[in-house]
Amino acid sequence: MKNLNLLAIFIIAVLASCTNEVEVVDNNVNNNNNNNGNLITDTACNPNTVYFVNDILPILSSSCAYSGCHDNITATHGIKLGSYADVMASGVVSAGSPSNSNLYQAITGGEDMMPPSPKTPLTAFQQTQIRDWISQGAKNNFCDDGCDSSNVTFSGTILPLMNSYCTGCHSGSAPSGGIAITNYTNVSAIAQNGKLYGSITHSAGFSAMPKNGTKLSDCNIAKVRIWIAAGTVNN
Ligand code: HEC
Repeated sequence: MKNLNLLAIFIIAVLASCTNEVEVVDNNVNNNNNNNGNLITDTACNPNTVYFVNDILPILSSSCAYSGCHDNITATHGIKLGSYADVMASGVVSAGSPSNSNLYQAITGGEDMMPPSPKTPLTAFQQTQIRDWISQGAKNNFCDDGCDSSNVTFSGTILPLMNSYCTGCHSGSAPSGGIAITNYTNVSAIAQNGKLYGSITHSAGFSAMPKNGTKLSDCNIAKVRIWIAAGTVNN
């Protein structure tokens, strides 16, 4: 288990005017109420389960941890979202109830929408993942997906990876480093000039990415390598 030492801070404003109650349809409530915060590891990934370590932490790290906003130094409102313990200690998650969780409210609406402009809002898929993770008990869970690096495609593998780990900083009207990482054109550009692979492998001469974050798993790095080696195809 890697030491997930990213600290991220989220401003959770009081959403007094927030009226968009969301009806949560959760057909996968795992009624194991043993949520003592200890890491739960599944040896295989259940496609109906949202995993904190695999799915949620990358979103929080990418979309909340940028310097000067919600990193652990700025610590706005003292709310930290960079580790499971910090998320739960911050009181922004009510396990089982997204509508009572400030975290979920803040990412889904209201005038104090997080992340704030010029950052782009979380995608609908990311919002759904956070909602479902809370519905499923907000567990400190992880699944070992082995490393299936067969059938690597841009749309099915690379873009989702970028969305999880990179677009929090590299999108919007002022993307970090002046580099947007949001579509085939801009991802293939940094793939072809060597910066994509150099940055995610923390190679000398490149800024290590995700910035201030946990390095991508060997499996994810392998997928990027395979996609580049196959010619950065738009498939
Ligand atoms: C927390 C914010 C953040 C995240 C997340 C992030 N980046 Fe960056 N990135 C930056 C900043 C800021 C820069 C500008 C250079 C610097 O400050 O190091 C940058 C620069 C880069 C560069 C240029 C590096 C160079 O040496 O010229 C590349 C390529 C890059 N990022 C790719 C990525 C990829 C790929 C991901 C996801 C795996 C990612 N970034 C995630 C903030 C981030």
